[in-house]
Amino acid sequence: MEQYAIKGGVPLVGEVEIGGAKNAALGILAASIMTDEPVLIENVPDVRDTQAMIQAMESIGTVVERIDKHTIRVIASNIHSRVVHGDYIKRIRGSYYLIGALLGKYKSAEVTLPGGCNIGTRPIDQHLKGFRALGAKDAGVIGGGMIVAHADELKGAHIYLDMVTVGATINLMLASVMAEGQTIIENAAKEPHVVDVANFLNCMGANIKGAGTDVIRIKGVPVLHGTEYTIIPDQIEAGTFMFAAAVTKGDVTVKNVIPKHLESISAKLIEIGCEIEESDDAVRVVATKRPLHTHVKTLPYPGFPTDMQPQITVALGLAEGTSIVTESIFENRFKYVDELTRMGANIKVESSTAIIEGVTNYTGASISAPDLRAGAALVIAALAADGYTTIDDIRYIERGYEDFDLKLQSLGAMLEKVDGERELQKFKLKTG
Ligand code: EPU
Repeated sequence: MEQYAIKGGVPLVGEVEIGGAKNAALGILAASIMTDEPVLIENVPDVRDTQAMIQAMESIGTVVERIDKHTIRVIASNIHSRVVHGDYIKRIRGSYYLIGALLGKYKSAEVTLPGGCNIGTRPIDQHLKGFRALGAKDAGVIGGGMIVAHADELKGAHIYLDMVTVGATINLMLASVMAEGQTIIENAAKEPHVVDVANFLNCMGANIKGAGTDVIRIKGVPVLHGTEYTIIPDQIEAGTFMFAAAVTKGDVTVKNVIPKHLESISAKLIEIGCEIEESDDAVRVVATKRPLHTHVKTLPYPGFPTDMQPQITVALGLAEGTSIVTESIFENRFKYVDELTRMGANIKVESSTAIIEGVTNYTGASISAPDLRAGAALVIAALAADGYTTIDDIRYIERGYEDFDLKLQSLGAMLEKVDGERELQKFKLKTG
């Protein structure tokens, strides 16, 4: 089984190009099947989650042509089934966007319950409530783990979300773009990827206003048409490299980013003692000393993202003094702390709060990635640690980070993907 072998202690230095946003891509890929005309999508990250989504689209008759590594053409004029199932689809969370897309286009959808990272119970009640309000009266989960939604007709509705949810906001935009009349989504999520999916749908002829605020208004249109679109850069990939610079006392410029999307991340890096330089489409992080302690609470955008919580915890684990990290989005997102403790961290988790007593250094260990973002955070810890670390279950990391190993190597990291004891020994000889 492949793992990362890492020798820590090298400050990361250089420039790294950030790819397209995974969580925007998942919504946009689903949306692209809502027209019969060809759609060209650029800056699609080539990661396991988007690969699984493309497979799911193909399984119902969508033609997906790969123009180059990050550009695809989607032709969905011959979709022959409204039922999506298969093991690959269970693995990703974003598969549920196919319900909104199929329901919106064909008024009928059956999709295997989504999987994704095990970071909490992750209910979908708000999606289902919205589908029902739009006219899919049977929307629900049936035996065999399928989500179903069928409607005779879809009519605009006033939907008040009980909590801020990215998934339900995107799914309800998809389901309502071609519904008759106006839909209003109140308490909508404001994440950049929600705005990106809305922009994409508008390029296809939809009439969506207010994305990026907490009230989204959608006037139904009869049909969507083909378009060409470039996905926004990935806020979390960028943030992960920014924290990698902070933790290794490095100097890293993340390129091809939208600095505005990174403000909550940059603000925390400044609080812990890093220097930040912003330009139009790049952010440079320079760290010269041990991080300072601080407190942070994850919140919906524009708050500090839950997807950056493990990375900041890794940084604060090395800060002088006590820091408190509060996770307010997912209840089970501190599982990686056990692994970090094996590397010498001193962190106590009490329900949704981690109380961190900073240590001066981490020590290499044999650990596993429990989920996507935590896996990336553990890589960062290993890059700063004394000695060697091996990280198993890197398939989680590959769900959302394209060429993570190659990008880190280009910044000077001593990290390699190895398969088996022999390759690990070779890596140790080379780096010893
Ligand atoms: N929630 C409900 N009911 C619902 C929907 C959500 O109770 O019907 C709750 C969730 O349990 C959670 C909160 O609302 O406590 C927010 O969930 P949200 O719907 O925003 O999350 P998601 O759509 O399941 C997406 C990203 C996650 C990211 C969150 C928050 C995708 C595919 N996933 O998940 O990304 O953490 O939004 O920003 O877009 C990742 O990329 O590593 C990742 C986990």
